[in-house]
Amino acid sequence: MKLSSPVAVLLLSSIHDTTAHYVFSRIALLNQPPSPPYTYVRPIYPPPDPQLNNSTSSPQYSVYSPHIRCGWFAHLSGSYVNWPLDINAGDTVSVSTTQSSSLGDGKDEEDMDIYHPGPATAYLSFVAEEPREDGEDTTALRLAEQKQRVNAGDGWWFKIGEVGAREDGRWVLNGREADGERVWSLNFTIPPSTPPGYYLLRTEHLYGYSSSFNSTQFYVSCAHLRIKGPGGGSPGPLVKFPGAYDAWDRSIWFPFGSTGYNGYYGLKEHSLPGPPVWKG
Ligand SMILES: *[C@@H]1O[C@H](CO)[C@@H](O)[C@H](O)[C@H]1NC(C)=O
Ligand SMILES: *[C@@H]1O[C@H](CO)[C@@H](O)[C@H](O)[C@H]1NC(C)=O
Ligand SMILES: *[C@@H]1O[C@H](CO)[C@@H](O)[C@H](O)[C@H]1NC(C)=O
Ligand SMILES: *[C@@H]1O[C@H](CO)[C@@H](O)[C@H](O)[C@H]1NC(C)=O
Repeated sequence: MKLSSPVAVLLLSSIHDTTAHYVFSRIALLNQPPSPPYTYVRPIYPPPDPQLNNSTSSPQYSVYSPHIRCGWFAHLSGSYVNWPLDINAGDTVSVSTTQSSSLGDGKDEEDMDIYHPGPATAYLSFVAEEPREDGEDTTALRLAEQKQRVNAGDGWWFKIGEVGAREDGRWVLNGREADGERVWSLNFTIPPSTPPGYYLLRTEHLYGYSSSFNSTQFYVSCAHLRIKGPGGGSPGPLVKFPGAYDAWDRSIWFPFGSTGYNGYYGLKEHSLPGPPVWKG
């Protein structure tokens, strides 16, 4: 059997895949130590996976599923974190991955690099206004927290960053399987004129291990942020999840060469899914 046949590549890659699932469970300001998993990132509850002894978190495949928003079951109101990560508009967040031997409860997490090659994007969704800082308005603070907790991420999202191709045959996130390079974090700058308030930050990493229809894996997570700053911007274009992508959208199928992971080509011409980045 020739290894270059698409079937062989698919078989090999699907075997390979089962050991390399991960979740963007950690976040920090750039160059700060990452938070413990799921401190600021919404917990997930992936379905049991017998192949993996229920141990790791499977990616999303359907762009029409509500799980595409923040990962498995993280759009439900029971999935919340106690406190957002504080950040000033204009500063950069760094998100990083772990692999788990339990189901999204933050236990047994191991550090894991961003194993697969592919592009990444980040989106913000406004949740609630920053409570006034004058006059100890703790009622407003509690209300804002409450809103954020129950927010299902079904509001509008705008894109704040993209990590695409480095050169025609190579992603910036080229993945361990492509060339042995390990990348441990993704960095996204909060646009300087982002209106202050509580937000969800959605990190998305795509792994197109074949060019066939509907085979792309989506690694998605949502973190809670409290953004401070002068504001003044009008973020857009705005999209929803699900809704932003279409399964037939060529930007979520990947050009793929005949020699497997090192055979990418045409990446510079490959546009990333979703709206343009709002730079604020
Ligand atoms: C799942 O558990 C079985 C039995 O303990 C073990 O043989 C197998 O290697 C495990 N598989 C994975 C993917 O860890
Ligand atoms: C995986 O989860 C299912 C359903 O919760 C359970 O029946 C099964 O025993 C679990 N498998 C392992 C290896 O823990
Ligand atoms: C894409 O694949 C997923 C997972 O296998 C499936 O649930 C979904 O229905 C597929 N979508 C289309 C448009 O075929
Ligand atoms: C994000 O920043 C960290 C720390 O500076 C760096 O090690 C990492 O390579 C950056 N990630 C990317 C994708 O550039």
